[in-house]
Amino acid sequence: MSTVANLARLECISGDAAYPIGPDPIYQCKNPHELGANLLDVIYDFPKKLDPEKLKVIWRKRRMLDNPLDASGVWRFRELLPFVDEESSIVTLGEGNTRFLQSFESAKYVSLPRLYFKHQGDNPTGSFKDPGMSGAITQAKILGVKAVACASTGNTSASMAAYAKRAGILPIVFIPEGQISYGKLSQALDFGALTLQIEGDFDKAMELVMQIMPEIGVYIVNSINPFRIEGQKTIVAELLEQMEWQVPDRIVVPGGNLGHASSIWKGLRELKTLGFIKKYPKITVVQARGADPLYRGVISGNPDNMAIVEDARTLATAIKIGKPVSYRKALDGVRATNGWVTEVSEQQIADAKAIIGRDGIGAEPASAVTVAGLKRIVEEGTDEVFDREERVVAILTGNMLKDPDYPVAYHSGKLHEGSTTKSIVSKDGPKIKSTFGNKPMRVPADPNVIKNIILQKIAV
Ligand SMILES: Cc1ncc(COP(=O)(O)O)c(C=O)c1O
Ligand SMILES: [Zn+2]
Repeated sequence: MSTVANLARLECISGDAAYPIGPDPIYQCKNPHELGANLLDVIYDFPKKLDPEKLKVIWRKRRMLDNPLDASGVWRFRELLPFVDEESSIVTLGEGNTRFLQSFESAKYVSLPRLYFKHQGDNPTGSFKDPGMSGAITQAKILGVKAVACASTGNTSASMAAYAKRAGILPIVFIPEGQISYGKLSQALDFGALTLQIEGDFDKAMELVMQIMPEIGVYIVNSINPFRIEGQKTIVAELLEQMEWQVPDRIVVPGGNLGHASSIWKGLRELKTLGFIKKYPKITVVQARGADPLYRGVISGNPDNMAIVEDARTLATAIKIGKPVSYRKALDGVRATNGWVTEVSEQQIADAKAIIGRDGIGAEPASAVTVAGLKRIVEEGTDEVFDREERVVAILTGNMLKDPDYPVAYHSGKLHEGSTTKSIVSKDGPKIKSTFGNKPMRVPADPNVIKNIILQKIAV
């Protein structure tokens, strides 16, 4: 492996300090900073001889190979990840290399003819968390830690559990009780994680992780961990390769803890510095209305002050986060790329999810905020804000089967705002209309009746 770990160091995003990597983990700058302005980035002195055109060919060739490192959609881009000295440290489950798909139904729905999806739900544990986790657990192995921990709305815990077990490290997950779908919880349990259900929401779980873990030497792998961002940033290289290195006009992502948006920004920044691309796509973050601190910050006119949302609410539980750890990094990315931030209602999310389904593509509710947000921006935007000829990529972050109760409730007309995952059909809040509902039909076991129903449907 042609990587040299001493090319890498940690730098504070506020630019006032740099730290060597290891042997002790460090997540935040030691100098005092405003909330969230103390995060660290992994910064490299990339070799000067790095030739983008040659690397594009090498990366593409590796895609055809079967050995685990080349077959990984993270590690085939290993020249972008020179924090690893020894190939044997790398922990991979064959992540990345996910589908890039043109959209038809969703494109019509949002009035954007050039809309594409990148489906990160195709990863080993079914979400975009896996590429990042491959990076963070690799670093955990390098550091020689015995246990790793995360607070999670579900997908992070599933991913961490799988990668940690693969590396022989104990995974410890903190999850908000009753707010995680079985599609995610079942994975953490099966992969053998010590699973702690916290009385409280994600933000409380995160606070506990930050408070307890450093004291007992457990390595934190939430997106506050800069090596998560490293693994995750390769999604940008993979996407650009799939687009033949033609930079799209816009990349749209759901916003929860904001690690995803941050990693896309890190990937873009490095690829531009290294000469792979000449311009940036506009990073556009969409949040759920009940969990929208970035949106609230932006419309307040003072986005540097995080507008924390106490008691965040949304049925898209993956993004039910009111105090995102990576707020600053994501905000930097939106600003630097001339991007956009918006939020959408529960009804808009549910309808967008059904429309993505009509493209033959399953995604979990949090992923659907991308299409819902685009619809809102297109409808509200003036031509200066949004050109309908833009080439737009929406990133779908999770596999639909992570949360199957939600679409069944929607299509059956039983989805309510305020439901918890435990009881997605409870009548806690206003009913969500099944605008694009597709109810299952009860039919008698009578061939003639069934034939007529089918013939009527075909005739429409
Ligand atoms: C499916 C899905 N989409 C989006 C997000 C939000 O990503 P981030 O927390 O990095 O903003 C998450 C985070 O848990 C997720 O699981
Ligand atoms: Zn600092």
